[in-house]
Amino acid sequence: MKNSVITFQKAKDQQKKIAMLTAYDYLTAKLLDESGVDSILVGDSLGSVMLGYDSTLPVTMEEIIHHGKAVVRGAKTAMVIIDMPFMSYQTSAYDAVVNAGRIIKETGASAVKLEGGANVCPQIKAIVNSSIPVMAHLGLTPQSINMFDGYRVQGKDAKTAQKLLDDAKAVEEAGAFALVLECMPSKLAKLITETIKIPTIGIGAGSFCDGQVLVYQDMLGINQSTTPKFVKKYAEIGEQMKKAFESYKKEVQEGVFPSVEFEYYVADEIIEKLY
Ligand code: KIV
Repeated sequence: MKNSVITFQKAKDQQKKIAMLTAYDYLTAKLLDESGVDSILVGDSLGSVMLGYDSTLPVTMEEIIHHGKAVVRGAKTAMVIIDMPFMSYQTSAYDAVVNAGRIIKETGASAVKLEGGANVCPQIKAIVNSSIPVMAHLGLTPQSINMFDGYRVQGKDAKTAQKLLDDAKAVEEAGAFALVLECMPSKLAKLITETIKIPTIGIGAGSFCDGQVLVYQDMLGINQSTTPKFVKKYAEIGEQMKKAFESYKKEVQEGVFPSVEFEYYVADEIIEKLY
């Protein structure tokens, strides 16, 4: 059976941690699903790790839907949640419902995610009223990068920490089924997690959250640009890929690949009859 908002809430109620990773294509989604990960996020990190943009801002509805469809085809059990791109929901509750509806109808995903607190509560309410589950996202919210002085830890002083706690209560009240907490002190994430009833999913928010999410290219060492402190590398796949590409190039240049075992056979008589 496919995991759902019910699975998420049960996990929190039974104090079982939720494991979530990003994916943007069919085969990665299939591998994640087969490894038992609870949920797959088609994040707008797509822009940086798949499309080479220097932020998440340029990601379009078409791009997220295109990749979302592929992920849904690969996920049998994991719940697929898709990010709403920058400016697909900020403009109005109406736009938010239309675009959330498109994402769900065209991809077959189970929920959408959007960034913000009290400022996006009308959008959360309107989308949830249309029977589409919403995951909220607080802390470092990359779509607001131009309002921050860079990608930094949020909620380190009393004023901003209080705002994050208030926003967490607001998005829960608006109907969000879960909340991503990105890049904030673990004590603040703990307080938020203990205060609200919906599950929190942390990324750079410490161990007290109800679940964790990472960008898969970061945790596999495929993304070799500067790694944030909170990323644990579970493998160095980037290095392995580079070595494999180098070996391939060398073998092609030296005529070692393809050797006979990679060739198709045809009888000599057939070739000899050709003119
Ligand atoms: O876009 C994304 O991948 C995200 C996660 C980092 C939470 O929003």
